[in-house]
Amino acid sequence: MKVQCRRGAIRHALDPEEASRLLIEEYSRMAREYDTYVTPYHEPIARRLLELAYVKEGERILDIGCGTGIVAFEAAAAVGETGSVVGIDLAERVVRHAADKAAALGLRHIGFEVMDSRDLRFPAGSFDAVLSGFGHPLIERGLCFEEVHRVVGEGGRFALCVWNPVKAQEKAASRLVREMLERRRPAVVATDVARLIEARKVLASTEEGKETQSAEGWIRLFRHAGLSSVETVEETHWATFRGPDAYLDYSFAWGDNEREWRHMTAESRESFRTEFHRRVTPLIADEGLVVDWNLRYFLVRE
Ligand SMILES: C[S@@+](CC[C@H](N)C(=O)[O-])C[C@H]1O[C@@H](n2cnc3c(N)ncnc32)[C@H](O)[C@@H]1O
Repeated sequence: MKVQCRRGAIRHALDPEEASRLLIEEYSRMAREYDTYVTPYHEPIARRLLELAYVKEGERILDIGCGTGIVAFEAAAAVGETGSVVGIDLAERVVRHAADKAAALGLRHIGFEVMDSRDLRFPAGSFDAVLSGFGHPLIERGLCFEEVHRVVGEGGRFALCVWNPVKAQEKAASRLVREMLERRRPAVVATDVARLIEARKVLASTEEGKETQSAEGWIRLFRHAGLSSVETVEETHWATFRGPDAYLDYSFAWGDNEREWRHMTAESRESFRTEFHRRVTPLIADEGLVVDWNLRYFLVRE
């Protein structure tokens, strides 16, 4: 589809497939930074996911949308060398990064592959459990869940963690960053940033994007894929950052946020930092900046 933009130029509007591909490319581009600034804060979430999925020694585990392997490495420790773990992701550089880490650690029971979770190249019943920390596809989740259904054996489990929509009254740090970015955004937004913002909007406005705004919607998607036994739990995870700057490093490690931050002048970044430090003061405790993340876990049994 072609659309007329503000300055009269004709440009191509994104369809959901392209929007999803653009975001996946961002994970690939930022693999190293994601691992440095995001992984340490997501590891406790991965451990909770494993606990809820009852992962045991000797099991065969698949991590979908594995990124740099946050869930996969935790799973490898839990299943031990009598078990096995495969992490798959469509972003090539995250897969390479995860594989390099496994090699550096000398782990032989974990492997990583570039693969689409909507089209898994594994025979039926290959795994005892499929896990995913925020790694569901951004479109056609139904296809992915059908594939999960196929590759988990009888008695198998699927455990997924997703972000829960933040309640309007919450003054979470992430809302603050978003609000400050929007307020400070220049009238003419850099093309790369505008494209990613559009990609997010396109994905949020699909039927599926709307469906995944509620637990009931997720459960409907699982059921359509033949996964009918679903338990879900909503939990607050308290993440502690050394201070406001560590939180900004986390927030600007990826995607349009990172690009927007990089496009700012040094002066604008400094003024952003100053305002952020001042406004997050109420969230600072002795141990650092404490941020509440509203998460939802699903455990689906075969
Ligand atoms: C938010 S990241 C999650 C990474 C990691 N699991 C974690 O716990 O932080 C989402 C990941 O899903 C991947 N992804 C999105 N769609 C996918 C698909 N159709 N097949 C495989 N991976 C996909 C992205 O490339 C990205 O690495």
